[in-house]
Amino acid sequence: MTALTPMKSVLVATVCSVALTGGAQAELLPPEKDLSGLEYETIGRGDLYDYRALDGYSEAPFLADMVASGTLPPLADRLPEEPLVFKTGAMSDGIGEYGGVFRHVIGGRPEGWNWLAGQHQGWGGINMAIQECLVRQGPRWQIKAEDQTGPLPNLAKSWSWNDDNTQLTMTLIKGAKWSDGDAFDTEDIRFWWEDNVEDKNVAARMKAGALAPGAKLEILDEVSFRFTFDEPQSESLVERLAYIEGCPGPSHVLKPLHPKYNSEATYEGYTQAMPADNLPIPVMGAWVPVLHKADELVVMRRNPYYWKVDETGQQLPYYNEMHFRLSTWDDRTTQAVAGTGDFSNMENPANYVAALKESQSDDAPVTVRFGQRTLAWRMSLNFSDIGAEDDVDLGLRDLFRELDFRKAVSHALDRDAIGQAVARGPFAHPYSGGLVAGSSYFDSESTFYFPYDMDKANALLDGLGLKDTDGNGIRNMADGGADIEIDVIFNSGRNETRKQLDAITSQLGEVGIRVISRGLDKTNFETALHGGAFNAVLNRRNFPTPTRRSCYNMPIAGNCPAFHQEQDGKRDFLPFEEDLAAAYRTFVATTDGAEKIQATRDIQRLITENVYVIGTIQAPAALLVNRRIRNAHPGTPVYMFQWAEDAIIRERLWTPAEQQLDELMPGKIAEY
Ligand code: GLA
Repeated sequence: MTALTPMKSVLVATVCSVALTGGAQAELLPPEKDLSGLEYETIGRGDLYDYRALDGYSEAPFLADMVASGTLPPLADRLPEEPLVFKTGAMSDGIGEYGGVFRHVIGGRPEGWNWLAGQHQGWGGINMAIQECLVRQGPRWQIKAEDQTGPLPNLAKSWSWNDDNTQLTMTLIKGAKWSDGDAFDTEDIRFWWEDNVEDKNVAARMKAGALAPGAKLEILDEVSFRFTFDEPQSESLVERLAYIEGCPGPSHVLKPLHPKYNSEATYEGYTQAMPADNLPIPVMGAWVPVLHKADELVVMRRNPYYWKVDETGQQLPYYNEMHFRLSTWDDRTTQAVAGTGDFSNMENPANYVAALKESQSDDAPVTVRFGQRTLAWRMSLNFSDIGAEDDVDLGLRDLFRELDFRKAVSHALDRDAIGQAVARGPFAHPYSGGLVAGSSYFDSESTFYFPYDMDKANALLDGLGLKDTDGNGIRNMADGGADIEIDVIFNSGRNETRKQLDAITSQLGEVGIRVISRGLDKTNFETALHGGAFNAVLNRRNFPTPTRRSCYNMPIAGNCPAFHQEQDGKRDFLPFEEDLAAAYRTFVATTDGAEKIQATRDIQRLITENVYVIGTIQAPAALLVNRRIRNAHPGTPVYMFQWAEDAIIRERLWTPAEQQLDELMPGKIAEY
């Protein structure tokens, strides 16, 4: 067994020391103590899975019965020519047994099933269970450093570049089908790109123009397509085609409801084309949602057309049924500890100690394993005028664009106290923005920090002319104007955010800034965020690689990040923002390892030196998995390249027959 972080050491070894450009005065973030207890051996890229035709295939017994009675086509007609084959050697418990239920508990609610139009299904692994994407990031945690060349294949089984890396040609699995039997092919890719990503009226996850400058798609045949870019790109760019940006939807269902193909359709109607209660829908995922009881439960049944198998030819998944109990995020951990749920990312530091205690006993139903610090919270100040309601808002946003103001806010925060407010113990570490400490790209020498120092905070605020002119304890705007009151929105379903905001409110109060916290439910929170209807926002935004949710963290397209959106097609960049976007573009474009690492350091330096966001704390999370579950590899991190729901490879999990739970809908598959 080897300790985690194999990739970090190799990446760091490829570059020699880099000069600090932040000035001798700037402080660096103090080193953290890694709490991760994960142990595992790394494997080669090709050891996890490949694509090939096997001599024969078999299927869940109830599906075989349906074939025998003529209600389902034979398995050979449902599988692609060369299915994705999971290798036995990489399975921690080996080939599985069919049957049983896997039980998730989540805090979200399905907004609808049209993920192409940006709808989410409630998070916590439900989006990922139905959306399969061109490439895959989650399982990369297990791949050895020298094979960390880019994402793993998925719906795209291979791809290649032209000589100058301006063209990426991808090939899909051939002969795969949606869960309703319709062919999956490049028409689904064309529709995803042209009529969703590139159609600005659709709020697709991948934003128009955000993949790469000048990106164009050309369909070559039924299984191959080509992207052409204005500038050379690298494998890092392909990472963007993983969950959540590169996941095609069922064009055969959605096209007729899209305004381009239907003169009576509207964009609002299109977004709602697959409403939460209208099931089933066709998916490429291992399970198909067949029942949604609002605020209670989503039941999914195995997809008889799933295109992945094990090496003995058994069609996956092994579980017949998957549940998503619609509850709260804290309850996800409570139920996993109690054994009534099978899985939790324990990410609310407040329940760490209790959960750890309860899981220690020999008969505890669950295993708990901490990963690295990859969860990070931050307060972002809105730099754009978009969504501002009055002169007070406009004045605040002017102020936010002043580096000294952002430094002052950072100096006013006692991050150790914020951490202890969330959870007593060693879990939280200060966060100053940028890539998280648990990231393989993290470089402490590029991570600047403006730590707790009330004198510095007060001096900076005084220097900006922000005095308490009316003696009420709150500083006033420079012209002797209004009290400085900052409304901070947060998702009210997240207790750890609320606790941090309480601490921040009193700390900023000490330097004469009043915080007014505004808790919003998830939907209103997202709406406010995207519409710019907030002056500041506190939320969790994990940033483990420059290509995951790049738009949350860097100004790489007009409508992102949410705290600096363009207005009427224009945006005044802060002095460093263009360099930040350029560093990101270098990262995705270069094939030179040292240059790539340098780009991540530039990103880190530019974000932290300029206090682009006000980082608060970063913490590790633990993965809780019920002991019934086999093939849940003990090295799986809660979050590395993607969340554990992807990293743990659910289609490969199983439970021995004698321990399987009863299914709610035995013998059933989705009926269209
Ligand atoms: C939510 C949860 C995370 C994880 C993701 C998966 O954000 O809080 O733990 O389950 O969903 O998308």
